[in-house]
Amino acid sequence: MKHLLRLQDLRKEDIFSILNLADQLKYEQAHGIPHPRLAGKTLGMIFERASTRTRISFEVGRYQLGGMALFLSAGDLQFGRGEPMKDTARVLSRLVDGIMIRAHSQADIEELARYATVPVINGLSDTAHPCQALADLMTIRERKGALAGLRLGFVGDGNNVARSLITGCLQVGMAVTLACPSGYEPADELLAQAKALGDFTLTHDPLEAARNADVLYTDVWTSMGMEAEAAVRARDFAGYQLDDRLLAAARPDRMVLHCLPAHRGEEITDAVFEAHAEEIFDQAENRLHVQKAVLVRLMKP
Ligand code: CP
Ligand code: NVA
Repeated sequence: MKHLLRLQDLRKEDIFSILNLADQLKYEQAHGIPHPRLAGKTLGMIFERASTRTRISFEVGRYQLGGMALFLSAGDLQFGRGEPMKDTARVLSRLVDGIMIRAHSQADIEELARYATVPVINGLSDTAHPCQALADLMTIRERKGALAGLRLGFVGDGNNVARSLITGCLQVGMAVTLACPSGYEPADELLAQAKALGDFTLTHDPLEAARNADVLYTDVWTSMGMEAEAAVRARDFAGYQLDDRLLAAARPDRMVLHCLPAHRGEEITDAVFEAHAEEIFDQAENRLHVQKAVLVRLMKP
């Protein structure tokens, strides 16, 4: 495992190795055991889009592993003024030990990885959010004890978060149903991969995704960069809200997860969010533990 660009690139054993290490690092942190596994190493973090959780979890995590992270806002880099990605990749590779990037385009992240000689981690693109999906799997396993055989119902946009999560869940033996409005499905390539990976259903009926789900998941209707479509999306996604009616169709011991930030009253009701806030904020915290595990797996010689 040289980079973390998409979950499709990981093997099942890579996923479990990251989850196991994340559990271990969470334990060490909870017990005050220092864990400077990457002492002296540096991480450059390029952000083309806003972030709370991704930035903080990588920055704090890098510090706790011994070392430092540099926050590099794309607008303040020469990259933002047109310096090619392939040159940025080669310069950063001479100056830091690893690169995390949140970019508008997955193709740009892959271009960066092609030219970088240090590990590259995808911190979200238009089509993938692998770090989020790993934290989601960690949170589900923590609460449910195991992953294989569980059923995930995703209600909402077939976007970056949905795509990585679908792939991750199927790789670890979960069943997945995605309910999204017509026109918001993931790309055909991902759908074909999902069907080949395991028990995957695509539907336009939110109730079908919720039925007997162990885990219900949603994400915003309007992702970053799509703000101009917000009004159209609000119409198209009406009925795709995690509310009491959908929850009643799931298993009695269902979990509810949300990658955050949440828009109460759109993709999730305030009542459902608050009833499951402990799970959702555990999920946000687990970004830290998973990010540290990813950094160690990629950057430890
Ligand atoms: N879930 C997530 O990636 O959050 P941020 O956009 O705050 O990083
Ligand atoms: N789908 C959302 C996720 C934010 C973490 C977005 O891309 O804005």
